[in-house]
This record gives sequence, structure tokens and C-alpha cells, in this order.
Amino acid sequence: MSNSKRVAILISGRGSNMMALVEQARGYEVVLVASDKPDAPGLGWARARGLATFALSPGGIGKARYEAQLDAALREAEVGTIALAGYMRLISDDFVARWRGRIVNIHPSLLPLYKGLDTHARAIAAGDAHAGCSVHVVTEELDGGAVLGQSRVAILPGDDTETLAARVLTAEHALYPRILSEYVMTPLDRIRDTALKLPETEERPSHGQPTFFVGENQFAQVRDDHHGDGRHVVCVRTSDQDEQAMLLEAAPDIYSRPAYLASSGWVGMTLSGDVDWPLVEDRIARSWELAAPARLLEAGGR
Ligand code: GRF
Repeated sequence: MSNSKRVAILISGRGSNMMALVEQARGYEVVLVASDKPDAPGLGWARARGLATFALSPGGIGKARYEAQLDAALREAEVGTIALAGYMRLISDDFVARWRGRIVNIHPSLLPLYKGLDTHARAIAAGDAHAGCSVHVVTEELDGGAVLGQSRVAILPGDDTETLAARVLTAEHALYPRILSEYVMTPLDRIRDTALKLPETEERPSHGQPTFFVGENQFAQVRDDHHGDGRHVVCVRTSDQDEQAMLLEAAPDIYSRPAYLASSGWVGMTLSGDVDWPLVEDRIARSWELAAPARLLEAGGR
């Protein structure tokens, strides 16, 4: 089984999205940069970074042989996810089928608006108030797969395609790495990544569940099938039972009473459905503060 966290990026040109994906990698590793244009400027940047590259032009050998060699290079590098970043070639249905659900792309429009080329000119001509960008799963239909995330960007009076494209590109560079992380990381990966970045933390199982400790104190525990309802939660500390009660009442769709730890003022936060990750990450950090010895709080200035 290939590892979804091993990512290849396919480019055809300058590769600014590729650079953003490399520089902001979280929860995935870029193991190959490939291009159908051996002189793509982005390839030079990737090589200078010490990344493995693959460059092959379909000209002369034909699309089928080109894709077969690309596929072989991807498998050789044990790639699990392909991120298209300004890759200007249509991918064959066969190739899509072989990598079903494992190819994503960034498109400079608010899909389903403006599939294909000249997106910014079309948005300006239509008099739209907003343009934007979308990260989506690649299927046989051009720019037609499930949208994983979008950013909206205002179209300002006097914008032309260049000024608008530049503003949207900045949004692309923030959106793509974030959505790719979300796509390849499980909720547990994400909590692990958050918890283990905090000072002097470690993971040990407790009651068979992944649990995060600072010293001898727990500050986060991931539970699957919590209350036997198939829901996953992460349990975190609150300051006291007043705060716990307030959270349970204010947002019952997010917070629940965890078994065992409820009497100590903990809450469960749901990891099912649309998760407010900044909130979860903030709560984990706060829970760490409540569990950490004074020595660490002073040292970290938290
Ligand atoms: C970006 O606008 C991207 O949305 C589109 O092609 C452009 C590629 O730019 N698919 P770069 O090569 O990533 O700089």
C-alpha cells in the first residue's frame, strides 16, 4: 500500500505553488518534482533544494509512453499522492483511474465557476465581485472533481488579469499546502503533530488510546468510537467545571462530556465532520498549559 504522505508535485512552469507546497509541508513529504517541460524554471529550484526530479517531454514519444514512464517514476519514488501545480497537460483517463482519489490540483477560480483557461479574464468580464482559487480532486472531467477547499479574493476596481492573478496567486500559496495537509493527514496525525510540537511532550497509550503527556500529566487523549456512537473525539482539559459546563452548553455539536475524565473538568471535542482545526489546536495548547509544570510555563513565557 502506497503512503499517501509521500507527495509528488507535477509542474510545467515557474512552480510557485510547488515552492509553497515544499516550504509549508506539514504532515507530508515532497519526494519528487516532475515536469513535462524539461526546461521548466521550477525544476531548477527543486534541484537546488536537493529534491529528486523527473523531467520528460511527451514530444516524440507520445502521450501513452510518456505517462507510462511518469507512472514508473512515481511508483519508484513510492509516491502516494500527486499534487498538480501549474501542470498544463491533460491527464489521460487511464492514468486518472490508476491514481483514483490520489491526484489533487489547484485551479485559479471559485469552482465550479470558470473551469479551463483564462479564468481571471472571464471573472472580470462577468463583473464578478470575487475571484479565487480552489483545490480539488482530479477526475476524468476537467476541473470537475470534488472541491477540497477554496479562498475568495476580492476583484478591485481597475483590476486587470495581471493584478488579479497576482492577488489570487498569493491566496493559492496559502491555500494549497493547508488543504494538502488536511487531505493526507488523519485526525490522529494532526493531533499528534500539534501535541508533540509542545515542549517536553510524549505519546503513550493509556487505556489503549493514544494519549499525550507533559511529564506525568496527560493533556490530550484521542478516543475512537467514544460512547459507542462511532464518533472520534480528542479529550482536553479545561480550567474547571464552570468552564467545562459553559463549553458543553455553548457548543454541544463540538464539545461532549468524556467518560472517566469529565469529573476532572475535561471535555471531548468531536473529530467527525467539519472540524474547526484552529480551535482544536488552540484547545490542545491550552490543555498543555493546564497540565505543564510551572517550570515550563515560565521558561516558555506562555
Ligand atoms: C496557478 O495559477 C495555478 O492555479 C494554475 O497554474 C498557475 C501555476 O503557477 N493551475 P505556478 O507554476 O504554481 O507558479
